[in-house]
Amino acid sequence: MVRTAVLVSGGGTNLQALIDAAGRGELPHVSLALVASDKAGAFALERAKRAGIRAEYVEKDGFEAKLEALLASEGIGLIVLAGFLKILSGGFTRRWAGRIINIHPSLIPSFCGAGFYGLRVHAAALARGVKVTGATVHYVNEIPDGGEIIAQRAVEVLPGDTPEILQRRVMERAEWLILPEAAEAVAAKLEGSK
Ligand code: GRF
Repeated sequence: MVRTAVLVSGGGTNLQALIDAAGRGELPHVSLALVASDKAGAFALERAKRAGIRAEYVEKDGFEAKLEALLASEGIGLIVLAGFLKILSGGFTRRWAGRIINIHPSLIPSFCGAGFYGLRVHAAALARGVKVTGATVHYVNEIPDGGEIIAQRAVEVLPGDTPEILQRRVMERAEWLILPEAAEAVAAKLEGSK
């Protein structure tokens, strides 16, 4: 199994999808060992505690150095960004190349990159009038949402959708499905390459 850290900033519904998938035995190569957040009050930290997973708030000052120390102390081999909003440095993403993945709530290359996060992504999709959107899991590099695509799933945009309604549909029908699948696939690949 690959000891896995999940980085979060908000409600943690994607983290919960990973926790639930693990509970169903769907992540045989993933050991959820640590949840870390740049936001002290992130409900995702509460979800981790309820699941018995170490949950740590990492303060802004010296964030990456403190995070690296945490990751090393837990023997982490895979990082999953799940609703994590802080941009990690090029140095950090290069050190973790091939071992850090992210879930983005659109079909990259649409509606992604700097400034596209959370509801803003869905508002932009509705403003453009796309009939299909979805979610993407990709490797993380120094370009926001720029890494190699691992998995995608499409979701219909329906008449009357608001950003909130669309976000929920993309979460339920795409994010929460492809993130656990992708994490397991990457962990299995890393395990095989050990
Ligand atoms: C949501 O917009 C989700 O689409 C994106 O990050 C936001 C929060 O996700 N991945 P979560 O509920 O904190 O996992």
